[in-house]
Amino acid sequence: MNAASLDSIQQPAVETFNLVRRFGTFTAVDHINLRVERGRFFGFLGPNGAGKSTTIKMLTGLLSPTSGEIRVMGRDIQHEPLEVKRRIGVVPEDLNLFERLTGAEMLTFTGRMYGLKPSEIAERTQELLALMELDDEPRKLVVEYSHGMKKKLSLACALIHRPEILFLDEPFEGIDAIASRTLKDLLSRLTSRGLTVFLTSHVLEIVERLCTDIAIISQGKLVASGSLNELRRGIEVEGQEARGAMSLEDYFIHVIGGVHQTSDDVLQWLA
Ligand SMILES: Nc1ncnc2c1ncn2[C@@H]1O[C@H](COP(=O)(O)OP(=O)(O)O)[C@@H](O)[C@H]1O
Ligand SMILES: [Mg+2]
Repeated sequence: MNAASLDSIQQPAVETFNLVRRFGTFTAVDHINLRVERGRFFGFLGPNGAGKSTTIKMLTGLLSPTSGEIRVMGRDIQHEPLEVKRRIGVVPEDLNLFERLTGAEMLTFTGRMYGLKPSEIAERTQELLALMELDDEPRKLVVEYSHGMKKKLSLACALIHRPEILFLDEPFEGIDAIASRTLKDLLSRLTSRGLTVFLTSHVLEIVERLCTDIAIISQGKLVASGSLNELRRGIEVEGQEARGAMSLEDYFIHVIGGVHQTSDDVLQWLA
């Protein structure tokens, strides 16, 4: 192994340096510095409109940064986009499937795009369809799939080339409890085999239950980051000074500057 590839093995899975994205005069992502070590289950948490999808799009090469740097597996996605894209899997918010294909056709197409051998594609397609429980209606077109089925197919497509990092934008949105449990189990299994998972969510419970590391973004700025345990310890210290023990939920609302309205204050006209 040469020094360059040895070096890239020791690099974190994801690193950003002062990452900025503006849309006109509006700053959606504001000088973000992230570091995700390999093999971690990373949750990027924040309320709606905080800048999570914009960040994940930049990390996966779908959107270019206004300024700042990104390293994925030690490589600059702007300079080596193909090398990075070969090593990552992405489930975007809009899922990005071809509606007129069957699940098997969609996976075969994706496998070919990654340059896999036909025998590998055939084997992995069958295995992934079975794993996602999408194999009982082989003639069904994606357009006829439910939202949960589409999510599972999109995830299967993101896995077919055996990526080292999986990026998932709001993977639990709009899926039922059973699909959600299957997905959680699968993701936990994949991280235990060394895959790095980077997911976004606006739901604290999901991130708290699944992730080893968390960063919280609000209005484009990083407001907290660390391992789940570190954040919990941080909360105890801050909580003791401020107002006794704080739950992660209180902390989340506290750091994103949420307004705590009691139910007495709101919707009075409804009573
Ligand atoms: N293409 C775009 N043009 C203009 N504004 C955008 C665009 N994409 C996102 N935004 C704005 O950037 C902010 C962050 O959006 P987004 O990253 O999608 O948030 P999140 O995924 O955390 O809900 C929002 O205010 C959104 O309206
Ligand atoms: Mg989003």
